[in-house]
Amino acid sequence: MRKLRSMTDRNARVPSLLFALALAWLPPAALAQRTPDFAVYAVPADGAVMLTMRQGGAQDRAFLDLDSASGGALARAVASAAFKGRHGTTLTLHGIGPYSQVTVIGRGDEAITPRLLEDIGALAGKAGASSKAPRMELLWPEAGMATGGAHLAFGAALGEYRFDTYKTAQADADRAGQGALVLRVSDPEAARSAWAREWRPVADSVRFARDLVTEPANVIYPESFVERTRAAFAGVPGVEIEVLDVPAMERLKMQSLLAVGQGSARPPRLLVVRYRGGAAGEAPVAFVGKGITFDSGGISIKPGENMWRMKYDMTGAATVTGTVLGLAKRRAKVNAIAVAALAENMPSGTAARPGDVIRTMSGKTYEIMSTDAEGRMVLVDAMWFVQTRDKPRVLIDVATLTGSVSTALGDEYAGLFSRDDALADALLAAGRTSGEELWRLPLHPSYAKDLESPIADLRNGGGSRAGAGVGAHFIGAWVQPGVAWAHLDIASMAWRDDGALPTMPTGASAFGVRLLDRYVRDTLEAGR
Ligand code: BES
Ligand code: MN
Ligand code: ZN
Repeated sequence: MRKLRSMTDRNARVPSLLFALALAWLPPAALAQRTPDFAVYAVPADGAVMLTMRQGGAQDRAFLDLDSASGGALARAVASAAFKGRHGTTLTLHGIGPYSQVTVIGRGDEAITPRLLEDIGALAGKAGASSKAPRMELLWPEAGMATGGAHLAFGAALGEYRFDTYKTAQADADRAGQGALVLRVSDPEAARSAWAREWRPVADSVRFARDLVTEPANVIYPESFVERTRAAFAGVPGVEIEVLDVPAMERLKMQSLLAVGQGSARPPRLLVVRYRGGAAGEAPVAFVGKGITFDSGGISIKPGENMWRMKYDMTGAATVTGTVLGLAKRRAKVNAIAVAALAENMPSGTAARPGDVIRTMSGKTYEIMSTDAEGRMVLVDAMWFVQTRDKPRVLIDVATLTGSVSTALGDEYAGLFSRDDALADALLAAGRTSGEELWRLPLHPSYAKDLESPIADLRNGGGSRAGAGVGAHFIGAWVQPGVAWAHLDIASMAWRDDGALPTMPTGASAFGVRLLDRYVRDTLEAGR
């Protein structure tokens, strides 16, 4: 079977493979990210400015300053637009006193937190991305958080994200979003260094992950995912990359990951990125991501409507790889591993079938009920591999695993499953602080019944009662004793249709990079 496949590979698929590789090697996406400038707060004499407005109570200082510089025109315009300053809303005005453009960013009545500043920065970044002004200044004179400006910049980078690699005509014609962004803050020095050392690396990693997710499946497939990752990590110290190809996985008896990839002309890969920034010999944290570069469902094929979306079924892999990229670039004091379980799930004469019995790397067997429950199939071999090799103290898997989690949680939260309360609480807290929120769901022992097989240890799905929990339960059967494990089902959060959140524009969110980075900061690095 394998011989046959590699023959077809060689004969028929070489031109398209070459073409796809050429595409994959184009300079990583989109427009170069703007570097914001930091300057000390002052009231600009003219030009395009952005400032915040509170909902109720005394107005922010910049609002009052601009209002008097415009002879009261700002407050009058805001009142006649009936703009209330609700968090998440913006109002763009033109020709206010000497100012060509004033973008008013509502900030509600919340306390000043990194998350609020990131939202404000994101709304400013979004306004900047659609403006042709050569220079826009965001005014944030509030003191209190010395590095606040870094969070504004972080938010701006997240909010202005666009992907226009394949827009051939528009890039030249459309000058929007090319202007300079100046952040006028109380302490520009502190902001500049916190941005450069602590937050820009994370912003870059979110962008890396969003680009990978947005790229179509004819460009990003297991091998090209690996190449993009190698390019992103080039020159980053403290990092080792290991890649298992098909023969290497065969030697390790990873039949489960191989079974998902065996229907595709594009062979699967297991990508392992190890970053050492913590004490030598300290057990690492391992992040394992589902990396299905396209999920057609396989023989249990999905309906055609919306199938194109399944290019984002590798978000978990992009997220964990991006997380470790950010940790390495900001030199986090932690030992961390990203494992990307990469395969394309396709129907073909070589594909796995419903009813097939799979012996996983661990020796545990299961019966395939649906080839569309492929995420858990690739994850369990990847998790077994990293537990065996690296003995992690914490194991977190990230996966667009089930449609069922969206039914439960909508697009407000990703699902969190864990049997370890301390780990669950730390992740919930990291979700609140980062703005990538989780909701804990149960791992009830009764889910085991849904997974009983008459001929194997388990089956890969079945019963349709609590799909997200049953999927989590399956994965949990491959967690070794003593390992603190959490499963994040991000199917509800990986792709945004409506741009509803300031820091997550429409499209790929790369949900999880900010969350896991925050978890490392507050739980693993803080304890040192
Ligand atoms: N990748 C899908 C889950 C998914 C669905 C992600 C919609 C994002 C949006 C996953 O592989 C899948 O097909 N899950 C099945 C599981 C079932 C066959 C047990 C599902 O959710 O229906
Ligand atoms: Mn599927
Ligand atoms: Zn899938």
